[in-house]
Amino acid sequence: MKVLVIGSGGREHAIVWKLSQSRSVDKIYCCPGNAGIAELAECINVRQDDFNALLDFVRYEWIDLTIVGPEDPLSKGIVDVFEKEGRKILGPTRAAAQLESSKVFSKDLMRANGIPTADYKVFTSYIHAEEYIKMKGTPIVIKADGLAAGKGVFIASTADEAMEALKIIMKDRAFGDAGNRVLIEDCLQGEEASFMAFTDGTTIVPMVSSQDHKRIFDNDRGLNTGGMGAYSPAPVVTEEMERTVIEKVMKPTIRALKAEGITYKGILYAGLMIDSSGTPYVLEYNCRLGDPETQPVLSRLETDFMEVAMAIAEGRLGELKVEWKKDPAVCVVISSEGYPGAYRKGDLITGLAEANSLEGVQVFHAGTAFRDNQVVTSGGRVLGVTATGQDIAAARARAYEAIEKIHFKGMHFRKDIAARALNRS
Ligand code: AMP
Ligand code: GLY
Repeated sequence: MKVLVIGSGGREHAIVWKLSQSRSVDKIYCCPGNAGIAELAECINVRQDDFNALLDFVRYEWIDLTIVGPEDPLSKGIVDVFEKEGRKILGPTRAAAQLESSKVFSKDLMRANGIPTADYKVFTSYIHAEEYIKMKGTPIVIKADGLAAGKGVFIASTADEAMEALKIIMKDRAFGDAGNRVLIEDCLQGEEASFMAFTDGTTIVPMVSSQDHKRIFDNDRGLNTGGMGAYSPAPVVTEEMERTVIEKVMKPTIRALKAEGITYKGILYAGLMIDSSGTPYVLEYNCRLGDPETQPVLSRLETDFMEVAMAIAEGRLGELKVEWKKDPAVCVVISSEGYPGAYRKGDLITGLAEANSLEGVQVFHAGTAFRDNQVVTSGGRVLGVTATGQDIAAARARAYEAIEKIHFKGMHFRKDIAARALNRS
């Protein structure tokens, strides 16, 4: 079979890598891909948001399945366009993807259906939002309604920080129309975990749990990023917690959408905050695989990924048994100097082959490109150095050992990825 993967990040490299191990996959295309993906797939030069051009490509190349990595094409309706033409594609429709593309939509759905989430209020007026913050006090959480690549969320511990966040979203319009509405939420305490599941709209198959590291610096300091590292499993998601999340979050979410006439198909991701009483509060939904969570999670998938993807696309996930490897996995992201703000680009990366040759290590590329046949940096998050091991400590040690081999100017990575899991085990 032939597959087209849409995207260019570490998540897409992990998807392509996993597909390349499938018995039934003969050829992989990726749009647009990156330097690492180019070793396993043919990277194509079609605009990611030109759905008609992508459809033409799929027809011309007789592609059996398209897998969408990022949220942007999903929120713009790529699945609707492909399904209308009878093409198989993995991901939710535009209406279903609102779970991620509008925080107001998802919060209202949670509130109406008793899905645990932080209390909140929505504002379109700067002055009313300001008054509400003054009334509520801090800490408080300020969020832009629409998509902002993980950067539209501000946890304010002082009133000044809260006002500054409001100004960035509503006055400076740093996220454009995504900031037309702002959500102001109570600040929750607890432990975070990423909970992803495969679903064909009827059957829900949970993936192994994982934990992201959102902040740029060690000890969860500095700005929020797309994610600086992840590990799987997350000890906070016990078997009992998994059952609770399925019953209290996943099933009611799919059911609530169905009641509105929306079938959710693809990957459903709930970002959770689990409080000390063991209640899993939903911080956000994503309508796709997490990045970097996918790198450790797919590293642990035993079942052929193409089989899983086809079963979802064809609505027969219930027939499949999805199995996982026991060994944990850890992914440490290396980013460019300046990220998540303006960052350096075009620096030569060395040591990739040495790092990749270490046992249990897989270096996934994100923002990389070729220049004169050499690999250079081309994005904020550059690499996701991922390792498996017999326990978290072993996987983590391997990932950091691999990082020592890799160099580029201004490279930055957190030294404490999975440290918390280590302390718990
Ligand atoms: P989101 O994109 O909504 O998941 O938010 C990004 C990150 O901000 C989350 O992973 C949390 O670390 C943090 N966050 C979001 N909402 C809250 C909240 N209500 N209370 C505490 N932290 C939050
Ligand atoms: N790592 C969080 C996300 O993919 O949104």
